[in-house]
Parts: sequence; C-alpha cells; structure tokens
Amino acid sequence: MPAVGIAVGDNKKEYPGNLTPFVTLTCIVAAMGGLIFGYDLGISGGVTTTPSFLKKFFPSVYRQKQDSITNQYCQYDSQILTMFTSSLYLAALLASLVASIVTRKFGRKLSMLSGGILFCAGAIINGFAKAIWMLILGRILLGFGIGFANQSVPLYLSEMAPYKYRGALNIGFQLSITVGILIANVVNYFFAKIHGGWGWRLSLGGAMVPALIIVVGSLVLSDTPNSLIERGQHDEAREKLKRVRGVDDVDEEFIDLVAASEASKKVEHPWRNLLQRKYRPHMTMAVMIPFFQQLTGINVIMFYAPVLFSTIGFGNDAALMAAVIIGIVNFVATMVSIYGVDKWGRRFLFLEGGSQMLMCQAVIAACIGAKFGTDGNPGELPKWYAIVVVLFFCIYVSGFSWSWGPLGWLVPSEIFPLEIRSAAQSVVVSVNMLFTFIIAQVFLAMLCRLKFGVFLFFAFFVVLMSFFIYYFLPETKGIPIEEMGQIWKTHWFWSRFVADEDSPKGGGGYEMTKAGQGPKNV
Ligand code: BGC
Repeated sequence: MPAVGIAVGDNKKEYPGNLTPFVTLTCIVAAMGGLIFGYDLGISGGVTTTPSFLKKFFPSVYRQKQDSITNQYCQYDSQILTMFTSSLYLAALLASLVASIVTRKFGRKLSMLSGGILFCAGAIINGFAKAIWMLILGRILLGFGIGFANQSVPLYLSEMAPYKYRGALNIGFQLSITVGILIANVVNYFFAKIHGGWGWRLSLGGAMVPALIIVVGSLVLSDTPNSLIERGQHDEAREKLKRVRGVDDVDEEFIDLVAASEASKKVEHPWRNLLQRKYRPHMTMAVMIPFFQQLTGINVIMFYAPVLFSTIGFGNDAALMAAVIIGIVNFVATMVSIYGVDKWGRRFLFLEGGSQMLMCQAVIAACIGAKFGTDGNPGELPKWYAIVVVLFFCIYVSGFSWSWGPLGWLVPSEIFPLEIRSAAQSVVVSVNMLFTFIIAQVFLAMLCRLKFGVFLFFAFFVVLMSFFIYYFLPETKGIPIEEMGQIWKTHWFWSRFVADEDSPKGGGGYEMTKAGQGPKNV
C-alpha cells in the first residue's frame, strides 16, 4: 500500500476509508466509459487501411494507394478520409460543453448513461453504413457519447476513491481506454481476414459491446456522495459515504464535503468564475495539460499506426499486427503507472516519460529519414529495419502510457475545487478533443509534406512540455482532494495568484521545494 507521504502541518487529514468491494466495483463499471473511448480511438486506423472499405467509400484514395508512383508519405493524404477519423472528436468537443451542465445538475451517473445511449446509436449506424454520410453521422454520435463519458467518468472516479488510492483508481479510466484500443486493434486484425471484405462492418458495429456495458453499468451505479450533496440530498449522501468507505465514522469527511459544497453553491457562474485570478493555476493546467498530451503526437500512432506502418513498407497484415503489438505495450505500460503513480509521484512520471518519448522520436525520425529520404521511395526494406522501427515505436508508446496518457486525465481531475470542478473538467475534455481533432485531421497531410520531420515536430513539443511540468506543476501525490488548494500557495510562481484567505481552513503547513517539486514533510 502506498504510504501517505505527507504531513500537512496542523491540518493533517486522514479520512478513514477502505478500498471496499463497493468502491472497486463501481470504479470498474465506471471505467468502462474509457473502454468505449479507446475502442473508437483504435478502430478507425485499421479500418482505413482495409482495401474493401477504401474501395467502397474512398475510391480515389484506393487508386492513389495502388498507384506505385505516388510518394509513400502521401498515399493516404485525403481530407475526407481523415474526416472519418476526426469528426468524432469535434462532436465530442461540443458534447462535453453540454455534458458539464448535465453532470452538475443531474449527477455524474446520468451523464454516463447518456453517453452510453448515444454510443449505441452511433455504432449501429456505422455498422450498417452504405454511404460516407452514414459513416460520418455514426462517428458524430459516437463523439457525442465520448463527450459525455469523458466529462463524467474521471470526476466519478476521483470522487468515489479514498484519497490514498485516488491516483491508482483514476488511472483505471486510462487503463480501460488502452484496453479499448487493444481490443480494437485485435478485432481489426482478425476481421480484416473475413472473406468478402465486409469485416469492417463488424469492427465498426462492435462498438455496441462497450456501449451496452456502459448503459447497463450506469443503471446499476449510484451517484457520488459529492454529487448528492451538491444536489441537496444530505442524508442519502452520508449513507452513501459510509457504504463507499466501508466505515461508520465518516463524519469528518462528510462535514468537509458539505462545507466545500456550501462554498461552491455561493458561486453562481461556474464558467465566469473560471476566469477569476485565483483560478489562474487551475485554468492554466486545464488548458495546457490536455494540449500538451495531444502534442506528444500519441494519436498519430493510435489512429494511424496501421497507415503509418503500411506507409513505411509493411504489408496489410503486418501493419495490423504491429498495431496489435503497440496496443499491448500501451496497456502494460499503463499498469506500470497504476503501480507507481501514488509511490513515485506525478512529476517523476511526467519527466521520465517525456525523456523517453523524446529519445524515441529522434531515433524514429532518423530511421525513416535514412531509408525514405524525402522522395518517399525506400526500395527494399530489410527485416531488421522493420524490427528497429517497431521497437522504438513501442518504447515511445510505453513512455507515453505511464506518463502523459494517464496523468493527462488524472492531474486535472484532482486539482479543481468543487465550485469549478464540472466546468473546469469540461475545459479539459474540450481542449483534449480539439487537439485530438486537429491532429487527426492534419496528420496525414503533415506526413505528406513534413515527411519524417513530422516526428521532430512533436519532439519539439515534448521538450516544451517537460519544462512546463518541471517549473509549473506542483506534486499532487497523497493530498486529499479537498485540501488541494494548498499546493499553489507555496509554489514559487502560482502563490502570487492564490491568496491565503481563500483557504477554507486557513493556511496549511506545506512547504515547497524549489521549482515546485512538490511538498516536503514539514
Ligand atoms: C489520450 C488519447 C490517447 C490514449 C492512448 C489518452 O490518454 O487522451 O488521446 O489516444 O491516451 O492510450
């Protein structure tokens, strides 16, 4: 069990609570929201490389691919084709704005349920698609579903978890994203072999399965104590808290939750509030963390791994297989994060993962550059070359998967005070979706123009984001969510925005080490 490595002066808080079966179960079901997201992230790339799918919906791309004169870097360069992948994220962006209102007014549970239902509709339309508009419509519905799920699930998990386990449980969400991606990769691999070339219908329609799990799951789940309090149901909330924590003595935590909720009720305009000076650190994180997460370039691989591998000379089957291998690495490395996040802390993982990604991006750019040059004509590709490229892709993905992948969702979800939590979480999801959309939409065009340099483009951002973490992100490991306000007050930079009297309980006893490396025991 991770040690609660912090003493908070006089305010030392250790709410009693266990990892009850009730918490574990609710978290598992809630984390299925991530599964849906992952499945849709992973499914489009493989479908896009399937010849029968291309021939039916995107005949010009199909011809371009057959045409051996086309520069390899450019064979998939089509804005409509990328629209099939990217439209989902644009829809998710819009939905997450509405979802914030639903989550706040009607609870986390209803948001999750809405997500599941939209998902079912999208999966059915996609599975039966006869024309491009059906494909895009289906993806848009799936996107609405993702907007709801991504807004509510991370909040749900953070609020249900006893704070000692908050990091690990929240990453359950990310883990299920990676499971979804992996399942999608495996499904693509096998369905592509189906005779008659209609396997892609099963791949796309398969999103029904996680969609149904989330629908059933959200029907049996209960809402979080925080959310019940927010909606005035105090008695029910206290009972729920006892059940969730598995102890009768929940008074202290309950009183704090009510106090936090009272404070947040006084706030009438959560959106306008986000702009207040004292929330500057929170807003900066809500925007910069998801922005940087996408600028690691991870989704280039998640969406387009099969396209990328087929671009650099792998056959169809081999490209789909390489995507499966990457999916496995993504999953396993996320487990490492679950193990380490409450032990080693967030900052260490961010910085280690960043260095690892940077090194791999440089090697991958060099490998592809050396073989393909700028004219995209590699000639024969030796086997060792393929192995080296896949290996470095794997090391890169593992670096992401124990750092920016899970922490890109965890850290924002744990730093917001209740009064801005729903709205701020929407900002996180929207920024994430906006940049996921942009990257999905422009990557194939970028690959065609920047060629192997596209990896250096993302490497540049990895350097920037590592500096950002080093200087601006305080450590949040082991700090109860209601006490989180303290971390800014002693930070070398953020303290100037966050005045001491804003603390509900007066100043805490934190002391930061240089450059915000996290609180020391004092
Ligand atoms: C990101 C996704 C990404 C996935 C990969 C998530 O944290 O938000 O954009 O595809 O990780 O595992």
